[in-house]
Amino acid sequence: MRWQIWTFYNALGHEPAGRCRVTLLSRNDERIDDLQESVSLSIPKKQGEKAIQLLTRLKLLNRKLSPQIVDDVLHVPLFRELQPEERRQIERALGKQSLSHEKFPSRAQPVGSLEEVLEQKLPSSIIPLVSKSFDIIGDIAIIELSPTAEPYEKIIAEALMRVHKNVKTVYSKAGPITDNLRLRPLHHVLGTDRTETIHTELGCRFKIDISRAFFSPRLSAEHKRVAEQVRPGECVVDMFAGVGPFSILIAKRLNDVQVHAIEANPEAAKLIRENAKMNKVQDRIKVWFGDARVVVQENLSGIATRVIMNHPSQAREFLEPAYKALRLDGGIVHYYTFKEGLDSESNARKELAAALDNSGWKIEKTIETHKVRGVAPMKWQVAVDAKLTPS
Ligand SMILES: C[S@@+](CC[C@H](N)C(=O)[O-])C[C@H]1O[C@@H](n2cnc3c(N)ncnc32)[C@H](O)[C@@H]1O
Repeated sequence: MRWQIWTFYNALGHEPAGRCRVTLLSRNDERIDDLQESVSLSIPKKQGEKAIQLLTRLKLLNRKLSPQIVDDVLHVPLFRELQPEERRQIERALGKQSLSHEKFPSRAQPVGSLEEVLEQKLPSSIIPLVSKSFDIIGDIAIIELSPTAEPYEKIIAEALMRVHKNVKTVYSKAGPITDNLRLRPLHHVLGTDRTETIHTELGCRFKIDISRAFFSPRLSAEHKRVAEQVRPGECVVDMFAGVGPFSILIAKRLNDVQVHAIEANPEAAKLIRENAKMNKVQDRIKVWFGDARVVVQENLSGIATRVIMNHPSQAREFLEPAYKALRLDGGIVHYYTFKEGLDSESNARKELAAALDNSGWKIEKTIETHKVRGVAPMKWQVAVDAKLTPS
């Protein structure tokens, strides 16, 4: 059996003013565990607001439980029995009252931040080591734990899933990215052992397998920044496309654009094809599976107005195919590299200039240089946007 009841929320100060109709749990309801017994003041519904204001003033109202109305009677949960003086005050305002004990449903409590949840469960020295070191990709979280925090991995993962309700699975980084395909070894911590998910970035949906293809949500602003520079009519070569965050966003923003997405990892190339279809941009993205050097040499020489080179650990070695992909009168290169120290940005520009030495190409203009993200203490991924022309 379910009862229809009215609950006064407005006087409790949690929900919008007004009354909202809710369904009280029946005794057979599976959420029966959420019912808690409490001292209850029962009064006619029409006196409800006045009663709740008075009980709030007397600090007697139990806000962890929801007041209930059954058959025009309001049942209000109290923290405790009344003191004689409190009883007198209530009776002066509301008339003669009798208290009973009843079961009330719990109010959902705000969970709090990850730090707050962890404070109750971990030594305080561990919390700064874990609280900011995670990425969320779709419904999967990837945490990074120092050796000191590792023994607490399950507690940390549980807390993360409590705070981020959309997270269904937690992995931890099990080592650095070392290979060319930029894949990271992962260790399953909690939730279903599933590495595939759907992630939304800047209005585009991406199918991602975090164990088989590179993706970092920390590059989102960079994907946006570059995509916003592309103008109608351009031809863009995305030399290291991954699952497609640059390519798909560019194609999604502009109808009149041609994007060539090159990817050497077969799993990522398969995903970018699926993602292009999922985002309905397959007509303006051509996906090439293979080594960017070979793909450009054989198919894409002299066609691009813009080349994106997001493979910071190796960009320098790929500059030749990048300028070969540009139109003969030149174009823009988005060059990425890793650089350490205070001069990281100027060193990135110097690296690009040095890599062009004796190439027959030069930097006509450096459009922008900036740090994209920190990758280690005092080490950054740096972006250099430059207009290149034949020298
Ligand atoms: C740092 S990830 C960037 C992915 C993507 N652009 C993004 O922003 O998420 C570099 C990508 O280049 C791919 N890759 C590595 N070597 C390659 C090559 N020789 N030719 C084409 N793609 C390559 C890797 O598999 C990886 O997906």
